[in-house]
Amino acid sequence: MGLGLSSCLLLLLLLGVSGDLGSQGTPPEGTWEEEGELWSRARFEAVKKHLGAVGALSKQYWQYLACKVWQEGCEEEEEENKEEEESHRRSGWSLPLVGQDYLELFSAWYCSFGKCCKTGDCQIINNITGLEADLNRQLHGQHLAKEVIVHAVQEFLQNPRPDKALVLSFHGWSGTGKNFVARMLASHLYQDGLKSKCVRLFISLFHFPHHKYMDSYKAQLKKQISETVQLCKQSLFIFDEAEKLHFSLLDAIKPFMARYDNKDQADYRRSIFLFLSNLGGNIINEVALDFWRAGRVREEISMEFLEQQLRAELQEPAENSYARSHLLEENLVDVFVPFLPLEYHHVKLCARDAFLARGLPYTEEALHEVARLMVFVPKEEKLFSAQGCKSVSQRINYFLP
Ligand SMILES: *[C@@H]1O[C@H](CO)[C@@H](O)[C@H](O)[C@H]1NC(C)=O
Repeated sequence: MGLGLSSCLLLLLLLGVSGDLGSQGTPPEGTWEEEGELWSRARFEAVKKHLGAVGALSKQYWQYLACKVWQEGCEEEEEENKEEEESHRRSGWSLPLVGQDYLELFSAWYCSFGKCCKTGDCQIINNITGLEADLNRQLHGQHLAKEVIVHAVQEFLQNPRPDKALVLSFHGWSGTGKNFVARMLASHLYQDGLKSKCVRLFISLFHFPHHKYMDSYKAQLKKQISETVQLCKQSLFIFDEAEKLHFSLLDAIKPFMARYDNKDQADYRRSIFLFLSNLGGNIINEVALDFWRAGRVREEISMEFLEQQLRAELQEPAENSYARSHLLEENLVDVFVPFLPLEYHHVKLCARDAFLARGLPYTEEALHEVARLMVFVPKEEKLFSAQGCKSVSQRINYFLP
């Protein structure tokens, strides 16, 4: 039995014993592959029920997660549940479950959906051509992000001996494509995309909600990262809402991103770390607005110029975990990737993609209608969509025949 499969089973076993989750038991080894899917669905239901019993988790909560992680089941919530979600947030709505098996539970959960493969690396596909093509086709208004990401990732993967992990920090307003690109990277580097065992997604408010448990989170996070790296030749770690990541967590994972000098440890140099945040979003938007006011096209905005501004902004010692951690001082971030604010015609392109993705016909008028639903700022110019392309794909529902 391969390492991937066994650790997967082990996690589930641990869970089964410690949490007494469900009564299905462990399937006989030989039938894992065939029955795995069904069984893991059942196990998932059991985990869900268990958690539900512990903390009275709402349906919305699971939808939120499924939506965040897999972009599944997003349609129903969004609008109606904004208020509830907000009140959850205020009351520290995140999982009531803390303690040791918190992240384990989630790896088991991920694990139960992904196919456990024998070596843990057989699902690596590294389809850079496909990545580039899909970014060109589906990422709108981001000439800088597109170029630097493909370049950085390609160079990193081609290097037989990188001296450190690749660390990319995505910055920009919400809805500008940071999540979209992270998902796209996952799906072009791994057969199973975000569901791969070599890909770990951490969402600050979800995985690390309470400051008082920071020590426990730190230990769990480090354990997760080293276990993943031991299992996979190449790992991808995504930190969503990185602006809300406690600086001590950032400091805790620094050694995984640092230049390699530790010979008795697993090799972290083949890992990719993505940090997604809205930090610096305002400065990026100011630059874009200045260019527009000066009558210059946004494609003239250069990486050198913007990255410099962005770096300066991130070092501002405001309530900003980047500045408080030592991530910047130690030059651990390889590229700061700016995501520009989106204009009206970009939103229309997102709407078009949403229609195409569902195989639905669309008219130019429908695209206008969708774009018109968004709020544009600043007040005078009404140039940039305040929510980028966020929830555009849900909004097309209103215009279906
Ligand atoms: C690479 O990605 C492209 C675009 O998504 C896809 O059409 C192609 O089949 C992929 N190739 C491999 C080998 O997975």
